[in-house]
Amino acid sequence: MRNSNSIMVFLLLAIFSLCKANTLACNEMEKQALVRFKQALTDPANRLSSWSLTEDCCGWAGVRCDNVSGRVFELHLGNPYDPHAVKFNGRSALGGEISPALLELEYLNFLNLSLNDFGGTPIPSFLGSMRSLTYLNLRGASFGGLIPHQLGNLSTLRHLDLGGNSGLYVENFSWISLLSSLEYLHMSWIDLHRDLYLPNCQLNNMISSFGYVNFTSLRVLYLRSNNFNHNLPNWLFNLSSLLYLDLSDNSLEGQILSAISNLHNLNYLNLSGNMLTGQIPESLGQLKYLRYVLLCSNSLCGPVPSRLGNLSSLSYLYLNSNELNGTLPRNLGLLSNLVRLRIGNNFIEGTVSEVHFAKLSKLKTLDVSLKSVLFNVSHNWIPPFQLKYIDLAFCKMGPRFPAWLQTQTSLFMLSLRNVGIVGTVPNWFWKWASHIQWIYLANNQISGDLSQVLLNSTAIDLSSNSFMGQLPHLSPNVIGLNMADNLFSGQISSFLCQKMNGRSKLEILDISNNALSGELGHCLLHWQFLTHLNLGSNNLSGGIPEFMGSLFSLKALHLHNNSFSGGIPLSLRNCTSLGLIDFAENKLTGNIPSWIGERTHLMVLRLRSNEFFGDIPPEICQLSSLIVLDLAYNRLSGSIPRCLNNISAMATIQSPIDDKFSILIDNYPFFRVIECLLLVIKGRKSMYGKILPLVRIVDLSCNNLSGGIPIEISGLFGLQSLNLSRNHLMGRIPGKIGDVEYLESLDLSRNHLSGEIPQSIINLTFLSHLDLSYNNFSGRIPSSTQLQSFDALDFIGNPELCGAPLLKNCTENEDPQGVNPSDENGEGFERSWFYIGMATGFIVSFWGVCGALLCKRAWRHAYFRFLDNMNDRVYVATVLKFNWFRCHFRRYRISLTCLRGCNQERREERGAGES
Ligand SMILES: *[C@@H]1O[C@H](CO)[C@@H](O)[C@H](O)[C@H]1NC(C)=O
Ligand SMILES: *[C@@H]1O[C@H](CO)[C@@H](O)[C@H](O)[C@H]1NC(C)=O
Ligand SMILES: *[C@@H]1O[C@H](CO)[C@@H](O)[C@H](O)[C@H]1NC(C)=O
Ligand SMILES: *[C@@H]1O[C@H](CO)[C@@H](O)[C@H](O)[C@H]1NC(C)=O
Ligand SMILES: *[C@@H]1O[C@H](CO)[C@@H](O)[C@H](O)[C@H]1NC(C)=O
Ligand SMILES: *[C@@H]1O[C@H](CO)[C@@H](O)[C@H](O)[C@H]1NC(C)=O
Ligand SMILES: *[C@@H]1O[C@H](CO)[C@@H](O)[C@H](O)[C@H]1NC(C)=O
Repeated sequence: MRNSNSIMVFLLLAIFSLCKANTLACNEMEKQALVRFKQALTDPANRLSSWSLTEDCCGWAGVRCDNVSGRVFELHLGNPYDPHAVKFNGRSALGGEISPALLELEYLNFLNLSLNDFGGTPIPSFLGSMRSLTYLNLRGASFGGLIPHQLGNLSTLRHLDLGGNSGLYVENFSWISLLSSLEYLHMSWIDLHRDLYLPNCQLNNMISSFGYVNFTSLRVLYLRSNNFNHNLPNWLFNLSSLLYLDLSDNSLEGQILSAISNLHNLNYLNLSGNMLTGQIPESLGQLKYLRYVLLCSNSLCGPVPSRLGNLSSLSYLYLNSNELNGTLPRNLGLLSNLVRLRIGNNFIEGTVSEVHFAKLSKLKTLDVSLKSVLFNVSHNWIPPFQLKYIDLAFCKMGPRFPAWLQTQTSLFMLSLRNVGIVGTVPNWFWKWASHIQWIYLANNQISGDLSQVLLNSTAIDLSSNSFMGQLPHLSPNVIGLNMADNLFSGQISSFLCQKMNGRSKLEILDISNNALSGELGHCLLHWQFLTHLNLGSNNLSGGIPEFMGSLFSLKALHLHNNSFSGGIPLSLRNCTSLGLIDFAENKLTGNIPSWIGERTHLMVLRLRSNEFFGDIPPEICQLSSLIVLDLAYNRLSGSIPRCLNNISAMATIQSPIDDKFSILIDNYPFFRVIECLLLVIKGRKSMYGKILPLVRIVDLSCNNLSGGIPIEISGLFGLQSLNLSRNHLMGRIPGKIGDVEYLESLDLSRNHLSGEIPQSIINLTFLSHLDLSYNNFSGRIPSSTQLQSFDALDFIGNPELCGAPLLKNCTENEDPQGVNPSDENGEGFERSWFYIGMATGFIVSFWGVCGALLCKRAWRHAYFRFLDNMNDRVYVATVLKFNWFRCHFRRYRISLTCLRGCNQERREERGAGES
């Protein structure tokens, strides 16, 4: 026994040593180097636990050796990507320091450290000395700082990926031209142009340095999201080996040259989300391997080249959100491999007919959302495709309901918004539609009684139609529902108390602007997930129930323009996420509760036109996010709280790039909710939706407020509209009112204010609405062209006031020099001239409220783009900094809660894609 055991051991040893002999052990020096490399790293998940000195390092995790020399050849240390994780799998990320010990791995040609987390530290410059590297992947590894130019020494590098490190930047790009073996270059999200306000110096540098390069083998060029803002460089059109070109989401200008036909191997072309102009060259039709043509979200004009119809491999054609005109070429119907066709949001006109789809049997996405197009197919057309996404918004296709839709049995999204359908929905529709996730039928004249219909889609927008009768039934699947602006009637409680096959997931409900009646009962308890609830403009009555407080997730609650009575229930204190309260135009009474000060997320408090009485609680000043405070037309008394300047959202001029606005523009997985409010600004009522986050107003008019205007009000530097009219206010206008420099509208009429109008008012260069009538002001109206341009009616009822625009001349002792010692040098005068010119220019061509903001330097870029395009995608992408330019991976987002008055703002989100 003992003997046989020894033999076994011997045999095992022999086999072991044989194996040893067969697989070369790793080089001891390299093993030591790797250990030092490991020691400098942090490895919270112990991914390098196999890196033990007692083991052969060629067997260590991520280490590959050359099987002949035994030298370390490749290091695969990328963090495994978990697509389901919200962030990259943070816990398994390596971090710490990259030790120069790596330099001892002389034969290393492959280094992958992607998706780790090096905490914003710079890429070590010694990597540039690792001359054997052919593959270097540092993608998404949280490197920061300047990219070391030493990387240019890696002359054998074929694959370089530095993408997704948003903290990296490049000052001079010339080193990259040394990488003559490059086949793959991925540098998305790197700031290649650090300061947008500098002229193009660095860019010129970059272009010329690229210009000398002979990138004959470059096959992949990935430079998405780098803030390039120059013309498409000419060298680009010489990269004849290129298969994959992505320059999307930059600010590239200029034209796509017809020399693009040189890139004859090109398979993937993505120039979307730039500012390219000119026509799409016909020569694009020569690139016969093209499968992806993504040119959306630019300013391309002219016709859609008909030669695109020759690209028989084409599967994605995204030309949406440009300025293309002419008619849609018929031979696009020959693209038998086309899967996604998006041409919406252009100026294309004419007729789109069955010919355009003749061979498109693989088509899944169809976006022909074009205002001037007649979508003319025969009523019993049987299309060759089975679509998943249909967006025909704004096309002319009514008045009949399109019957061919019935042939589409795997639809995911249907948008027939504003297509001119009139009349009732056919009988088959609702059953057929019950499997479609998103349905948008808003802004038609569709009628019919839905009281027997069961809605089963995730998001449904039926707003602005003529539906009538009782509200429909909902399945638990519905998450967003907009039925605003219809003719629905009946008791609201029969909708709220409906029996449901499970627990409702409804988060967004807008049934405003209908004729619903009755009281909100205890059934509100069944809708626990509601976040945005709009019941405004109905005939609802009774008290706001205590149960309201059990809707813990509520972010926005609109009950305006009903007949609700009683007080604000204490239970509402439990809705800690409330960001918008609109109870205007009801019969509510009682005090404004002081606990309201606890709702520090509250952005909008609108209690206008009710019967609230008592003091304005000073706790209101704790609402640091408040941008709309409208307590007008109540019976509030006492004085205006002195602390209003503590409301920091109004006291600071903050950029609108702020997560806080997510209550007003709230992104859900399948849609975007844009809160709309009817506001009275400059004496006019208008609907504010997308620009609501930019509004700052205080309206306390028509109450019984007394005392003075607290001087602290001049600390609300961001305020645009202040209305204190029709109260019993006394004393003077705060001398520093001129500090509220973005004030556009100031109404102090019908109070008992007195004294002189402070000289600083001439500094309010954006003021376009001013009413100081019926007070006891005295002295000379300060002179500035702007004040004198107001109507005399804005000053009447002040017997002691004199000077233009009033007809009453001032007497000698009201000499302007005496009143106005501070303005002698005339500088203020010139300054206001300058701004008036500017302000009127903008206000005439623009929406007023935003006018003032245009001069805030940091925002200018965003707003000019907003102005130029008047187009949601640009606005949202620049202002909210979301990467929504990417028109091909995005989710389809449509606002749900806006009403008719907002329609001019509620454009279809253009360039929207689907995931
Ligand atoms: C070395 O490994 C490669 C693949 O990794 C293999 O193709 C080659 O045959 C191996 N050489 C020897 C000598 O084992
Ligand atoms: C570019 O390099 C390739 C080989 O690397 C060479 O054949 C070609 O002549 C070069 N072209 C120019 C313009 O230098
Ligand atoms: C397209 O627009 C251009 C100017 O942008 C214009 O010159 C041309 O006539 C238009 N073509 C058609 C067919 O409308
Ligand atoms: C409702 O939708 C779900 C999922 O979208 C689907 O499974 C179910 O069959 C639909 N119900 C009806 C009645 O159509
Ligand atoms: C509010 O919340 C508190 C504690 O969470 C609870 O005791 C109270 O009953 C709630 N009030 C209402 C009306 O829901
Ligand atoms: C107007 O504003 C400027 C600076 O913005 C200030 O120096 C000047 O004193 C102000 N004029 C008045 C009359 O307050
Ligand atoms: C006001 O003064 C101007 C000249 O300074 C004079 O022409 C005008 O008639 C006067 N108006 C009144 C109402 O006194």
